[in-house]
Amino acid sequence: MKKEKNILCIGAGYVGGPTMAVIASKCPEYKVTVADIDEKKIKAWNSDRLPIYEPGLSDLVKGVRGKNLFFTTDIAKGIRESGIIFVSVNTPTKTFGEGAGKAADLQYWEKTARAIIEYAEDSKIVVEKSTLPLRAAEAMHRILHSNTKGLHFEVISNPEFMAEGSAIEDMQEPDRVLVGGMRTANGKKAMDRIVSIYSHWVPKERIITTNVWSSELSKLVANAMLAQRISSINSISALCEKTDANVGEVAKAVGMDSRIGPKFLRASVGFGGSCFKKDILNLVYLCEYYNLPEVAAYWEGVVKINDFQEKRFVKNIVRNMFDSVAGKKIAVFGFAFKADTGDTRESPAIYVSKMLLEEKAELSIYDPEALDNAEKDLAGAKGRFELVRDPYKCAKDAHAVLILTEWNEFKKLDFRKIYESMEKPAFIFDGRNILDHKGLYKIGFNVFPIGSSKMSHFK
Ligand code: UDX
Ligand code: ADP
Repeated sequence: MKKEKNILCIGAGYVGGPTMAVIASKCPEYKVTVADIDEKKIKAWNSDRLPIYEPGLSDLVKGVRGKNLFFTTDIAKGIRESGIIFVSVNTPTKTFGEGAGKAADLQYWEKTARAIIEYAEDSKIVVEKSTLPLRAAEAMHRILHSNTKGLHFEVISNPEFMAEGSAIEDMQEPDRVLVGGMRTANGKKAMDRIVSIYSHWVPKERIITTNVWSSELSKLVANAMLAQRISSINSISALCEKTDANVGEVAKAVGMDSRIGPKFLRASVGFGGSCFKKDILNLVYLCEYYNLPEVAAYWEGVVKINDFQEKRFVKNIVRNMFDSVAGKKIAVFGFAFKADTGDTRESPAIYVSKMLLEEKAELSIYDPEALDNAEKDLAGAKGRFELVRDPYKCAKDAHAVLILTEWNEFKKLDFRKIYESMEKPAFIFDGRNILDHKGLYKIGFNVFPIGSSKMSHFK
């Protein structure tokens, strides 16, 4: 097979794995290899139990694995054999030094760039698929061209817009695909090659080509604006709880304005996920770096409201459970940052659980997919918690149930049975507004939704 038909993806995580599975299935004439330094992860990708849960992923992988999709730890071989290299290694927020807490930590990306220089024997197209801060492509360009072999690397920005839980669908039918490159002859040629991959299944008018900076910034801004909508409605949920307004009704009325639209207006305990907070903080850092403090403060507000919402949720629990949860069993339903994923990165459940453990509550946690991650997230947390694989056992003898993820299965649970097995008075704090609150109240629960009046049996 010709090298230009060989694609390598470095980083077999939430982005790399699903993206490459879709590319391999849509482009049978390409050989797609996904490489990672994590041996355990690669082993899992080659097994029946994939390292991540994503609807439709398992079948997709089974259909192409061993045919034109391969998972390996041999990064050097992958680099030598491939003409196109996607990089989707992690870019967490820096926890140390200049820009700590805001800037992106590019150490994994830089290591990857250095590996490409070390093992490449000819020129290549390098595609950034991780969310990188603005100007990262330029830095990568410089690192890649510090090679002394006379090789040319064309860096393309191709940001990821897929959301977890619907990654395969989003990738198969994207709203748009963004390909950013240098406006040089080589840059245009490289962009054309990446565009031709996506053209296998994405209509031409949905593939946008821009310069690198627009492409990188578009990703940050798209995520910042989505998160901003959630923080906007969450801020209003606090006001609704003080008045007689219902945030669901407000969101519906507001969202029916076609200029605003109905999506991403679900009030909740807060947004989580690996992207929103990280990307906003990145944007904030950039604005500060370019001496735009007002713009930085504006976007930082989105994260502050999210923190406020999580804190408010915990305060509400403690206050309404007679100012103390010490020694009380509390059942946590849902630990993933959203439904249909096992991912818990930045999940509001982490913060809520840790705060309640500090208040000396005894937590019992159930999630259909995220318990392994929950265990890692709470390792070292002070206090008592257990992970339970059955929601009814989880709620037994509990004083309260918290809904922290919008899993569909929670709506189908037998809450009468749950109520009967709980301590009384029994409380439900629905951090996702997914349950039938009136029905629960009738059963006997004291119900605390987000953004509407509580339904309490106490006068
Ligand atoms: C996001 C972007 O949507 C995606 O385009 C990008 O590529 C990666 O980041 P993701 O983090 O996977 O995707 O999930 P998303 O569906 O955006 O949800 C993020 C968080 O917001 C979740 O915690 C979700 O529960 C919460 N959310 C979402 C709300 O609280 N209310 C809403 O109305 C929508
Ligand atoms: P994302 O959500 O961006 O995909 P993940 O953390 O799920 O992030 O995946 C990133 C992957 O990149 C991890 O599996 C990690 O082991 C891998 N990785 C990090 N650094 C390197 C590297 N230098 N070479 C190869 N893989 C790497």
